[in-house]
Amino acid sequence: MESVVNPWEVKGDINYEKLMQDFGIQPFSEKPDHLLFRRNIIYGQRDFQRIMECIKNKQPFVLLTGLMPSGKFHFGHMFVAQQIILYQALGAKIYLCVADVEAYNTRLADLEELRKIAIEEYLTNYIALGLKPKNCDFYFQSERSRDANKSNKYYNLAGIAARHVTQNEINAIYGEINPAKISSALLQVSDILHPQLIEGPIPTIVPVGFDQDPHIRLARDIVQRMSQFNFIQVSSTYHKFLPGLKGGKMSSSDPTSYIAMTDSVEIAAEKIKKHAFSGGRNSLEEHRKLGGVPEIDISFQYLRCFLEPNDKKLAKIEEQYKSGKLLSGELKQTTIDLLIKFLEHHQEQREKAVNKIDKFLKN
Ligand code: TRP
Repeated sequence: MESVVNPWEVKGDINYEKLMQDFGIQPFSEKPDHLLFRRNIIYGQRDFQRIMECIKNKQPFVLLTGLMPSGKFHFGHMFVAQQIILYQALGAKIYLCVADVEAYNTRLADLEELRKIAIEEYLTNYIALGLKPKNCDFYFQSERSRDANKSNKYYNLAGIAARHVTQNEINAIYGEINPAKISSALLQVSDILHPQLIEGPIPTIVPVGFDQDPHIRLARDIVQRMSQFNFIQVSSTYHKFLPGLKGGKMSSSDPTSYIAMTDSVEIAAEKIKKHAFSGGRNSLEEHRKLGGVPEIDISFQYLRCFLEPNDKKLAKIEEQYKSGKLLSGELKQTTIDLLIKFLEHHQEQREKAVNKIDKFLKN
């Protein structure tokens, strides 16, 4: 299937190496020690060394990212959540944006509903996963801040950045797009750059999937053009898309493609049993002889991406599966056991998180 990856559509088999080559995304020379980096789930970067230096030298830096409030928070949203929490622990000041204006313009025209989804699904889960209110500026695109200074800087930048972008550039980056998308792109540029108007020029890391790279490229172009602000060039990292249960994309619009953080353990276990694509062989005999294929096995991929943080244990599972010793059903059971453990703990944390929401909404 032909693959499409842009801010408004992701489908097909994605060739990450080709994307890196075509768009000049670099491998890492140095990385933080975290599962997502170690296992190459975060596979590429632009100007990341600047952030590494901040981490090593304990210099201030900003993490900025945005969330699109669309339906249930599921495992596909975990990579961003984990990175926000990682960088917060590494000393970053967090700017966390709810892309409700973007969603209003390009998806669901109901700001109230979008706000509700952002808080009850996204923010609550971030808190449950470990996000702290200290050094976290959580805001809505529709309501930047009660602090007029912050708000003015944000909306002003989104407004005046337009002068510094040409039609040809928009066409080259995005193809032909409508006013709603152009305006979303400029607002996102302001998301990415305005922390530097508040903090002064400061290294900023934006962790994204490749679908958001057009916005990163636009922001990086604008940095070079709006020299009056002395912006420090934006750094970005790129993580892979978590495959859905059946392979393909994990999508909020198809509950059999995802496991939500609020799925009951029974439903989650059932989803793995019923829907998780297996890399096992057609018959027991064949499986014992040829072994399973972990690369395409969704249960194994979930172990690799989240559920089995111990590298040695993971390697052992992989080896046993490949050699045919471990059967597909047994592998699924390992995944289910760890998933249940994770969900039980997470759902407890979610209940506690509800009381902390207000601390993030003072902005
Ligand atoms: N457009 C992003 C999405 O669809 C959300 C977003 C808004 C964002 N502002 C951002 C992402 C700034 C990264 C940086 O998910």
